[in-house]
Formats: sequence, C-alpha cells, structure tokens
Amino acid sequence: MKIGVFCSGGDAPGMNACIRAVVRRAIPEGHEVVGINRGFQGLLDEDFFTTDSCEPLMTLRSVSGWSRFGGSFLRSSRSAEFRTDAGKQKAVAVLAKHGIDALVPIGGDGSFRGAVELAKHWNGRIVGCPGTIDNDLMGTDFTIGFSTAVQTAVDAADKIRDTAESHERMFLLEVMGRHSGFIAVHTALAASAECVCIPETKTDIPAIVRDLHELKARGKTSVMMIVAEGDEEGDAAKLNEQLQAAGNPYATRCVILGHLQRGGSPSPEDRILASSVGDFAVQAILEGRTGVMAGVIGSQLQLTPFEKTYAMHKPIPAELSSLIERLAR
Ligand code: F6P
Repeated sequence: MKIGVFCSGGDAPGMNACIRAVVRRAIPEGHEVVGINRGFQGLLDEDFFTTDSCEPLMTLRSVSGWSRFGGSFLRSSRSAEFRTDAGKQKAVAVLAKHGIDALVPIGGDGSFRGAVELAKHWNGRIVGCPGTIDNDLMGTDFTIGFSTAVQTAVDAADKIRDTAESHERMFLLEVMGRHSGFIAVHTALAASAECVCIPETKTDIPAIVRDLHELKARGKTSVMMIVAEGDEEGDAAKLNEQLQAAGNPYATRCVILGHLQRGGSPSPEDRILASSVGDFAVQAILEGRTGVMAGVIGSQLQLTPFEKTYAMHKPIPAELSSLIERLAR
C-alpha cells in the first residue's frame, strides 16, 4: 500500500513523533509512505516530502531523530481551497495520480471534518491521529501536544508568580484552547492558581471579586487567575476590566501566552502518545479500517469514528475545577 501522512490545522508538539511512527511501522511491513507537506493544501498542490534523490517518498532515515522536535517538519496549514467541491475533486485526482491508497491526517476537528468530506468522494482508507494542543477531541483521553502546552503554560505561570509575589499583584494569564478550557484547568491546578475561568462554567464576576476580597483578608499577597481564551465573558483584558469595575482589591497585570504554547520540544507523554497512535493508525489501515481516529482511552488504544470525535463538547472533569477551588485558600 502507499500511505500518505500529513499534518493539518494548528501545529502541536509531538506531530513529528507521530509521523515517525507512521513511517517506521509501515515501511518494514513492505508499504510505502508519502509525506504530504502543508496539509490538505499541500495535497492539492502535490507538495510532497522528497528524499535526497528527489523521490516523493519517505524512508526510514527520513524521520531519524524527529521525535524530540516540536512543530511539524511536514508543515501544517488550513486550506480554504480544499473546502470547495472543486478542491475535493482535485484532491481525489491527485491521490489517484500518485497511487495513494490510504491517508493518515494528524490534526484536530477541522482536519477530521475534512477527512469525512474527502471520504464522500474517495474510497481510500483514512485513519487519523489526534494532533492539537486543545485536547478537545472525544475518543482519546489526551491529544498530541496538550501535555507540552500545559507544561509551557505552567512554566510561565511559575515565573509570573515570582514577580506577582514581589509586587503583591494579581496576574490574569490567558492560555489557548479555542472553545475548550482543558489547558486552563490543567495549568491552574498544576500552577496552584487561585482562580480559573473557562467556557464550560459560568464566570461570575461579582462572586470572583468577593473571593478576591476574602483572599486578601486572609493575607494572600499575590493571585494567579488562569483565563481560557474562549471564556464566555471575554479574554484576559476584558475580564480584568470587569473585575476592576466590580471592585477587585488587587493591582493587576495581564499576560497572553499565545502561540508560545504551540512550540517547544514535546514532553515524554506527547512523544509516547504520538508514537502509539501513529503506529496504531497504520495497523488499523492495514486491517482495512477507515473513517476513524486512533486514540488512547484509559491506556487502551481505541478507534473512534471521525464524526464522534467532534460531535460533542469534550467535558472537563468536574472534580478538577472543584479541586482548584478547594485548594485556593
Ligand atoms: O487549535 C489550536 C489553537 O492553537 C487554538 O488553541 C487557538 O485558538 C488557535 O489554534 C489559534 O490559531 P492560529 O494559529 O490560526 O492563530
């Protein structure tokens, strides 16, 4: 078989380890792997990873040492052209022209929606791997990149806490996650934050200000609030304005972590997850499976139909949020 692998959507640390696993599982079993650069757009442009001899194929050596690097050596993109009917027809023609029998998209919900659309026009096999820092996909406990993004955010929060303490200030640290509060909750718990604002729960400004007064009365000199970028009350700057207007007793500063969270050497957890699901995705393709994502649930490798990975909002375990509240004294 000839298997195409590509990264699509926002990059995530661990994507390279996943590509490596796909290559290292498929080639020894007698299959070929085509690395498609720049996601769906690269497929349309016939933009393939080439060996030194300019062949559009990956080799066992192509991926040597890839696991420790963040980003995506195959690049990544979001393609407007692919979303059109003409784009999908073109993708099918390119796949046929290059004899590609199967695809492994590494990405998030947008990539899997694209895979579902492609499957309506193409009868090759498609098995995806969950690559997004947001951890917003059902069918896997964690997504590739989430662990590293949280590590980065916690490192930042720890540093900010130093200056917060020195100046007796409150910091609002905004983290990514799009519509999900996973990065925020895990960061808040690990960084001993006093407060977390996420889209999954109501952000009650008067109640937060009451808590802040209590904290101040109890002698807390610095406060760390983690704000998920998708919080329904707005971003860190907007929340800060609302808190000040409602009588926040602390002097504040805002920090937006932004794309910093998408970079860096992947954590061991991300490398292990990426390697496991990349290998498993190839196995699933060879067993004839299609239209599914490879994930890990409770340490078991599982396949979940693409549609189910994004059909519902992945819930944040309630006990994590209540633990943050209980410990913020
Ligand atoms: O989905 C990953 C993510 O980093 C989100 O957390 C964030 O909202 C978005 O991508 C940012 O996208 P872009 O790279 O297009 O700015």
